[in-house]
Amino acid sequence: MKNLVLLISGRGSNLQSILQAAREQGWMDSVRGVISNRADAAGLDVARSFGVPTQIMAHTDFASREAFDQALGDVIAALQPDVIALCGFMRVLGEAFVTRFSGKLVNIHPSLLPAFTGLRTHARALEEGVKWHGATVHLVSSALDHGPILAQAVVPVLDDDTPQSLAARVLVEEHRIYPPVVRALLEGRVQTDGLRTRILPAPEHLS
Ligand code: GRF
Repeated sequence: MKNLVLLISGRGSNLQSILQAAREQGWMDSVRGVISNRADAAGLDVARSFGVPTQIMAHTDFASREAFDQALGDVIAALQPDVIALCGFMRVLGEAFVTRFSGKLVNIHPSLLPAFTGLRTHARALEEGVKWHGATVHLVSSALDHGPILAQAVVPVLDDDTPQSLAARVLVEEHRIYPPVVRALLEGRVQTDGLRTRILPAPEHLS
């Protein structure tokens, strides 16, 4: 089985959904560790509750983005990951970092990319009046929120939605779509052709 490292900055609900799937489906041995750039991230307790080793790498301890990326990369590399899953990791990773771990970085973004890259996605979706919104799992490339798309889920935008109510509807879908993609990456079932991708079915689903 291949190695998985997860990066967080906050709540850790996507982390929880992945660890839960790993436990239920028997791939917890792949989980090498969780790294947070914030010491107060609630997700650290989530990791501990699953018995996963945690490390804190505070970006505030470093003089530059490049120095942080280098140090974070060294900590990650020591865990020999095949897949690095960003789970609400709120630091933009520089080009050198993305190149260092090229093909291994996966992220979940709370919008239907390529719409609404960046922050405040739910508020911006409401401001733009879109009728459908959602979440995207994608490979990380050096262009922010623009890597090959691996999975998407769509939710309706309701007349009375607030950014909070819309975020909650999207989050349910995030928790549904992210774990199977992480597993597929670990199992080498993801094929890419430029920005187009294909996820092959898990062996137990093959007839
Ligand atoms: C999620 O909405 C994710 O899509 C975004 O940051 C949020 C993290 O939430 N990248 P959590 O920490 O996984 O609960």
